[in-house]
Amino acid sequence: MFTPRSALVIGGGHGLGLGLVEAIKNRYSDIEIFVTYRDEAKAGKLLLLDVNATKLDPLNEFEIVEFCKCHEKFDLVINSVGFLHDSETKPEKSLRDINSADLLKNFSINSIVTPLWAKHLKSKFSKKEVSVFATLSAMVGSIGENELGGWYGYRASKAALNMFIKTIAIEFRQSRLKTSVIAIHPGTTHTELSEPFSKNIKHKIWGPVEAANNILNTLEGCLEEGSGLFKNWDGRRIEW
Ligand SMILES: NC(=O)c1ccc[n+]([C@@H]2O[C@H](COP(=O)([O-])OP(=O)(O)OC[C@H]3O[C@@H](n4cnc5c(N)ncnc54)[C@H](OP(=O)(O)O)[C@@H]3O)[C@@H](O)[C@H]2O)c1
Repeated sequence: MFTPRSALVIGGGHGLGLGLVEAIKNRYSDIEIFVTYRDEAKAGKLLLLDVNATKLDPLNEFEIVEFCKCHEKFDLVINSVGFLHDSETKPEKSLRDINSADLLKNFSINSIVTPLWAKHLKSKFSKKEVSVFATLSAMVGSIGENELGGWYGYRASKAALNMFIKTIAIEFRQSRLKTSVIAIHPGTTHTELSEPFSKNIKHKIWGPVEAANNILNTLEGCLEEGSGLFKNWDGRRIEW
């Protein structure tokens, strides 16, 4: 049984990250929860919870280093930072919509946050006890399952994220860490990220805490299966 005593959620201010904080709090007793958030205006609910919340920019390596200096060990780390759209950038419908600024934004937020944190968290995982380092990826980042096209920046940046996850898993294993390194698709979930697209979706859309519980069930199920996996919320393996 996985009984983490310390957890870190990166990007827990709202959305799925906040759902994960709430689900972790309810699921594991005697756990100390650390959370990072960036936008204070959106983190009102988080700041009412009894957790250790730190405001930082998850892409700023100096701030990551300062945060990590204050922590000895984590058993469960989940990165929930991600980007699909904002007022200036929309997912591309075709090549006509491609531009380098939007592609770079997708890659910075969706791909680069995870290896930056892995670099500084590597020493925080135990060689003796089992731990988890997971990142929320997306089904549309699967190259093998891409049949619809479009959404170039989001798809490609999640595919790059998946390659980072696989490569981090190899390095952690070579360093004899007992850490499961997992990319996970949370399932469509009601958050700011999915909101503009949710009216066209026919399948179930999860609430953030429901989705978070699916994620935690899947992560617990992975511990026996190994590391360097791309998982759906229901435990199924997704083709890279
Ligand atoms: N919702 C879905 O249906 C769905 C489906 C598949 C995959 N996912 C993935 O799940 C993860 C969480 O998504 P969500 O639905 O919870 O989205 P969300 O509500 O929009 O939350 C996005 C998170 O990313 C952070 N973030 C966004 N832009 C940032 C930037 N420029 N710099 C630093 N941090 C930034 C946000 O923090 P601040 O607001 O504090 O900046 C927030 O913590 C993402 O990786 C997403 O791709 C979601």
